[in-house]
Amino acid sequence: MVDVTALQSAEPVIGRLVVVGLGLIGGSFAKGLRESGLCREVVGVDLDPQSRKLAVELGVVDRCEEDLAAACQGADVIQLAVPILAMEKLLGRLAAMDLGQAILTDVGSAKGNVVRAAAEAFGGMPPRFVPGHPIAGSEQSGVEASNSELFRRHKVILTPLDQTEPAALSVVDRLWRELGADVEHMQVERHDEVLAATSHLPHLLAFGLVDSLAKRNENLEIFRYAAGGFRDFTRIAGSDPVMWHDIFLANREAVLRTLDTFRSDLDALRDAVDAGDGHQLLGVFTRARVAREHFSKILARRAYVDAMNSNDLIFLAQPGGRLSGRIRVPGDKSISHRSIMLGSLAEGVTEVEGFLEGEDALATLQAFRDMGVVIEGPHHGRVTIHGVGLHGLKPAPGPIYLGNSGTSMRLLSGLLAAQDFDSTLTGDASLSKRPMNRVANPLREMGAVIETAAEGRPPMIIRGGNKLKGLTYTMPMASAQVKSCLLLAGLYAEGKTTVTEPAPTRDHTERMLRGFGYPVSIDGATASVESGNKLTATHIEVPGDISSSAFFLVAASIAEGSELVLEHVGINPTRTGVIDILRLMGADITLENQREVGGEPVADLRVRAAKLKGIEIPEELVPLAIDEFPVLFVAAACAQGRTVLTGAEELRVKESDRIQVMADGLLALGVKCEPTPDGIIIDGGQIGGGEVHGHGDHRIAMAFSVASLRASAPIRIHDCANVATSFPNFLALCAQVGIRVAQEAES
Ligand code: S3P
Repeated sequence: MVDVTALQSAEPVIGRLVVVGLGLIGGSFAKGLRESGLCREVVGVDLDPQSRKLAVELGVVDRCEEDLAAACQGADVIQLAVPILAMEKLLGRLAAMDLGQAILTDVGSAKGNVVRAAAEAFGGMPPRFVPGHPIAGSEQSGVEASNSELFRRHKVILTPLDQTEPAALSVVDRLWRELGADVEHMQVERHDEVLAATSHLPHLLAFGLVDSLAKRNENLEIFRYAAGGFRDFTRIAGSDPVMWHDIFLANREAVLRTLDTFRSDLDALRDAVDAGDGHQLLGVFTRARVAREHFSKILARRAYVDAMNSNDLIFLAQPGGRLSGRIRVPGDKSISHRSIMLGSLAEGVTEVEGFLEGEDALATLQAFRDMGVVIEGPHHGRVTIHGVGLHGLKPAPGPIYLGNSGTSMRLLSGLLAAQDFDSTLTGDASLSKRPMNRVANPLREMGAVIETAAEGRPPMIIRGGNKLKGLTYTMPMASAQVKSCLLLAGLYAEGKTTVTEPAPTRDHTERMLRGFGYPVSIDGATASVESGNKLTATHIEVPGDISSSAFFLVAASIAEGSELVLEHVGINPTRTGVIDILRLMGADITLENQREVGGEPVADLRVRAAKLKGIEIPEELVPLAIDEFPVLFVAAACAQGRTVLTGAEELRVKESDRIQVMADGLLALGVKCEPTPDGIIIDGGQIGGGEVHGHGDHRIAMAFSVASLRASAPIRIHDCANVATSFPNFLALCAQVGIRVAQEAES
């Protein structure tokens, strides 16, 4: 009898478990549950006497029965682990028995055929039948290979139907979890589609390729030279032929669908080889390579991460330290985004150097790959973009996922509003909370058709095929993202698009458009573009990101005895607010070796420790230092006296509410501060140790790492994974210059 209410207890909760079919999967299931103590008795059934004998000897089951009816008498759960084509006959026999209240489940690799066979045998799908599929196995087979750990950290997919009893589902769910499996529920059809693509098709290709090569007369010659590629690709051709023959017959429809799609993709590759179309080949190969890297990461994380802590990457920062040395921070994020966008829209091949290989800029890169642009790299900051021209983008195959990156979403929305295809833009939890009406509304005025979720949040659905009209727009907020979005839309809009900003914001879009030979007129606070021109490929050298440098500017300022040089930092006047504010606070920062690189001013920044004092931050500097406030608040906490920030309400709609989140963290560290609607008041003094939260916001995590230099005890910073969005080697550079922050060892 199954005691569903006792499902959480350590006592046996199942009387009798019957496993029909003692192969690798059935045997491992039986053995694992027998060892768990969850079942009072585990009974095996198998046609083969040798398997039955071994199963008892090896402790896989308590006892075995030859006769199915005898075994199933009084069973609580019956697991069907026979080859998939034997399932129909087995179900027919079970249907003729009185199974009482027994729960049925199975392990078949295809689900549609099992469900059909069960419905036929029982005259309708039994409500106590829970179809299942463990995605696990090994080259070994037979009961002697039974391994109670086989399913640990492997996925098991259950495919309940509408009529499946929830209680039966939760029993089967519990059994698999007891074996350490990661259980997911899915619809039958979806399961069969997914498995056809990810498992069945690759097996078909592997068997097919080996056979095709082996048939040839010169096969011995060929195989003598078959090295890594052949070995890697065909490993799975060593799998059990009978089992696979069963699977293809069982999952025929889904396999045919995925095979047909693949066949037409293969034909396209054949045509490209035939036509000598290297561009097409490079496109397929570069896309495949990143996709493969992406999947590997997903798989690797799955292998090491326990669901409980998967999102909480913790930085542990030790108090004290002094900075010295010369470093180069990674490339500018804003410029990196724009290099991909404009390089893609240009005619010809654009080479980029110093590209930021952070997740945000990579999201933009991937978006353009998805829209058919061939992009090589990034490799050590080098990217080669084969531009498609202003009208060469193709629809992405699905929604474009932009992760944490507001810049990607806002700038892309302008560009996509003018295409002749529909696009959907989505993002992570943080991006999904950020306001998009600031771009959607003026774009609608230009004639764009855009849908958003409630209150203008992502996802954004951007309809194609709308002719845009030029707009004269005065922005209600100082936002380079809004300005850039509208200028990009303006490249396609009829007539002239003019954007006026209430205060100066970063002008990388305007500079880079000109760098690509596209005319932009600038008149004070107003920038305009007209459609009808083109972008011509160019060479871009991305300077170091002043926003990333800011952490070290503050760190070296507050840590006594420090002297540090930051090389090759972009010092575009629309970005240097952080230097101005720190200097007003008394910081010792000098600019050396000033030069211009590809239309952007660059310098080496030398910073020495200094006694900082609190100030009232001039409001006109706010947009020029908009991303640097989290770490400037740390400077203020170390300064003598009071620092007051006003006119910075924009900080509340960044990757987190940076006013509130920083105030919470500073208060937790014993710093006196008070958030206000548009800023904060901070009284400098002693920083203590403690626990703070990054809230998925890269700049918060890095700011509190810097705070440790003046803390009296360690600071533990939760939720730091997103540091990789803008500064993937932050911890390494910290270690190099003397900030003692590291990822907390996984327990
Ligand atoms: C950016 C502009 C800024 C900035 C963001 C990058 C850009 O946002 O905060 O990190 O690349 O244009 P707003 O323009 O919305 O202030």
